[in-house]
Amino acid sequence: MSIPRLGVNIDHVATLRQQRGEIYPSIEKAASIVLENGADQITIHLREDRRHIQDADVPLVKKITDQFKKPLNFEMGCHPEMIEKALEINPAWVCLVPEKREERTTEGGLDLKSPENFARVKEAVGRLRSDEIMVSLFIESDKESLERANDLGVEAVEIHTGDYAKDFLLGNDYSKHLESFYLAKEYLDKYEIGCHAGHGLTDLSTEVLLKNKLFVEYNIGHWIIAEAVFDGVGPVTKNLANLFELHPLEL
Ligand code: PXP
Repeated sequence: MSIPRLGVNIDHVATLRQQRGEIYPSIEKAASIVLENGADQITIHLREDRRHIQDADVPLVKKITDQFKKPLNFEMGCHPEMIEKALEINPAWVCLVPEKREERTTEGGLDLKSPENFARVKEAVGRLRSDEIMVSLFIESDKESLERANDLGVEAVEIHTGDYAKDFLLGNDYSKHLESFYLAKEYLDKYEIGCHAGHGLTDLSTEVLLKNKLFVEYNIGHWIIAEAVFDGVGPVTKNLANLFELHPLEL
């Protein structure tokens, strides 16, 4: 029996810092506190436009994850500059995501259906894996995206949960999302590809997914940092980690 992993995305701490051009709040302190309180991994996204995480943050966060002997999950777009960065930093995981400058946050999964994109992702996956970095692809839970990801031989995919999370929050029927997550899990389990989840999740929307034993890893950021305004990042992380403990995977 194993417990699903909780990855905490701390980009939003850097957003607060960058918004005023200050040197606080400390991204290293955030990483340490969430790891002390039950997080299994730290996730950071170095965007091409550097809107939150900065280059100098990356080695500092890696140092913290190394101290805690926990993985760093480095999210990035498929740009040559970022591939070089990842090879330099050597995180345990890279999660490849689509990136558009005008978006407020990552708005959907990678488009692996376009041959051009597929070739770009393939090249990135090859370079990262030659350095023994595990790769996950942030994708939608449709059949074709899953099959294309499988063709690329990645260790995991991270299913975009943003639309599910939004419907959950709005009180809409979210059963169609759960169905597509079940189908994705079934497919990924067959090929022994890790089934991860991320985007827009809160404690309550995560609890439904945990109860359904759909994912082995969840990357959650915005809700944790938002709740931390009221309760502190340590207690919020601890409560979430406790929720994970209540829902072991049947393995
Ligand atoms: N996973 C991926 C691939 C993301 O792009 C993000 C947002 O940066 C997250 C997880 C975390 O999403 P949120 O901050 O909405 O919890």
